[in-house]
Amino acid sequence: MHKLMAMALAMLVGTVLLTAAQDQEPWEVPEEERAVENPIAADDDVLAEGQRLYERNCRMCHGETGLGDGPATARIKPAPPDMSTAEAHDRMTDGEIFYKITVGKRPMREFESRLSEDERWSVVHYVRTLRAG
Ligand code: HEC
Repeated sequence: MHKLMAMALAMLVGTVLLTAAQDQEPWEVPEEERAVENPIAADDDVLAEGQRLYERNCRMCHGETGLGDGPATARIKPAPPDMSTAEAHDRMTDGEIFYKITVGKRPMREFESRLSEDERWSVVHYVRTLRAG
């Protein structure tokens, strides 16, 4: 009896740990998605639209300048990574940023059903302006 309970408990703890670990896993992006280029050219209107959409949909988590310090981060785990670093911008292609916005990853929602493709590409252009270094 005790043995069984201990085993059940161990399995439960194992499942919880595994689930927690999965959330921290690197965000895999298919090569073909990484290779997609931004089909719209950045001009003042596109950047203004990207900024408007970022402020409405992303700033609460990613923060004004992409640091990952938005007000909603008080209650979300994991915290959003710093999107303003040169490292983040060099690591991610436009296609990768677009893909991540499109599909999301908990606690970040998907935006495929909320923003049109053009809107998502405008946000990608705006995210590029947040590069700090
Ligand atoms: C509810 C909070 C939340 C919102 C809203 C949100 N994100 Fe995120 N975002 C996250 C978190 C948390 C991660 C890290 C996910 C992971 O890798 O586990 C993330 C990751 C990312 C990444 C990958 C960063 C990297 O270095 O790999 C990009 C790009 C991104 N978000 C862009 C956006 C954009 C653009 C929007 C708005 C359209 C947005 N996010 C909305 C929380 C959020």
